[in-house]
Amino acid sequence: MPFKDLREFLRALEREGELVRIKEPLSPILEITEVIDRTTKLPGGGKALLFENVKGYDIPIVANIYGSEKRIKMALGYENLEDIGWKLYRILRPEVPKTFLEKIKKIPELKKLSDAIPKTVKKAPVQEVVIKDPDLLSLPIPKCWPKDGGRYITFGQVITEDPESGIRNVGLYRLQVLDKDRLAVHWQIHKDGNHHYWKAKRLRKRLEVAVAIGGESPLPYVASAPLPPEVDEYLFAGIIMERPVELVRGVTVSLEYPANAEIVIEGYVDPEEPLVDEGPFGDHTGYYTPVEKYPQMHVTAIVMRRDPIYLHTIVGIPPQEDKYLGWATERIFLPLIKFNLPEVVDYHLPAEGCFHNFCFVSIKKRFPGHAYKVAYALLGLGLMSLEKHIVVFDDWIDVHDLGQVLWAWGNNVDPARDVLILKGPIDVLDHATNEVGFGGKMIVDATTKWREEGYKREWPEVIRMDPEVKRKIDELWHKLGIE
Ligand SMILES: Cc1cc2nc3c(=O)[nH]c(=O)nc-3n(C[C@H](O)[C@H](O)[C@H](O)COP(=O)(O)O)c2cc1C
Repeated sequence: MPFKDLREFLRALEREGELVRIKEPLSPILEITEVIDRTTKLPGGGKALLFENVKGYDIPIVANIYGSEKRIKMALGYENLEDIGWKLYRILRPEVPKTFLEKIKKIPELKKLSDAIPKTVKKAPVQEVVIKDPDLLSLPIPKCWPKDGGRYITFGQVITEDPESGIRNVGLYRLQVLDKDRLAVHWQIHKDGNHHYWKAKRLRKRLEVAVAIGGESPLPYVASAPLPPEVDEYLFAGIIMERPVELVRGVTVSLEYPANAEIVIEGYVDPEEPLVDEGPFGDHTGYYTPVEKYPQMHVTAIVMRRDPIYLHTIVGIPPQEDKYLGWATERIFLPLIKFNLPEVVDYHLPAEGCFHNFCFVSIKKRFPGHAYKVAYALLGLGLMSLEKHIVVFDDWIDVHDLGQVLWAWGNNVDPARDVLILKGPIDVLDHATNEVGFGGKMIVDATTKWREEGYKREWPEVIRMDPEVKRKIDELWHKLGIE
């Protein structure tokens, strides 16, 4: 089961031997990063870290709590993360019940959905302390890398509402501390928070913003999930947990935010104001993103628990903790990709490709040009539209095995015939394109080629052993003393 709040999750991590308490006094300026970076590079992602003694602050910092397969599964409460996607698949699939009995059987599914709707509470742990004269510098917000433009909140759930429809969005966007009550909000142009900002600008309205740290264990993850704009991330969290996220109304904003969070920063963005310099920031590409213009958030209040814990993550040269957040998204969204493209067997977005540089996808090929059909469709699917290289394989290639991927790619591709160069939107963090956010894409068809696709030779057969011989050697194998 997912955990009610960050501290309950930490207790479970400690019981499982997944948490290391660090008593050594360390500065939030660079020193903590160095420890986290070395930890995330350990095999399997290392342990979660609790920095109990942060120099200059009496608030501890935790990091890398989602940074392994085991811990992200614990946080979400599933052994197989694809089950979350299948749950959504069943909700989305338009299936008309044929009989009265089938109709009745559908009711538990619908009940589960209504149980997932966020619940508003009056009294909230996160509002134990209310500070209306906020000072961001009183929080242990780290500076991650030497050339960063300042201190950055890296694991805040940035909550806004669509100024027209009122639908909530929760996005994981970094925020740079500008001074004691101002933050630069780094919602990139393709993201829903940015869309809310542009709508507010058109309507000449202020946009309220709340930034939540902590809460029920799936919440920091769901903020990073690429959900369609009309799906509330906290409803999604409720579907994952099979119980509602508890929300409370803000003190100086009318937004609701997680009642069980550790800290919430309330405020607003005024779209009439000029944009401010944001950056540089040592980013998840492994490079510094240069200074760019983003809106500023005015902080109107900080609310927190009496003994808050500050949740932090770093990005940098992969792998980092976000490898496992991205992996969760990859697994959870596979069933939804199959909902749109049933021919897709599996896909993989390697962390080393920063998720948007490479997509390896395997398909059940049924007709000439099928690989292109799938690649075009993926490029039209939400944030998959930012992918730079899409390589399509036959169904039996394991796209998670880089050895198999390179073997099939190298052998099956004639670059003169099987590579297509296109243009389109590109992740704004990409520094290779001439313009920010716009550039080239490459589709590679690494499937077996058919005559209709111009291949006039006989496609060779893959070497496979006779099944009888395999069975015999299976039986003998342990006696041979090889393993
Ligand atoms: C650790 C981490 C930091 C991130 N920082 C940013 C950021 O600063 N700006 C941004 O636009 N997206 C950032 N992202 C990606 C978004 O969280 C992700 O694209 C998410 O789907 C956005 O939510 P939205 O679809 O509601 O806009 C980050 C993701 C992770 C895992």
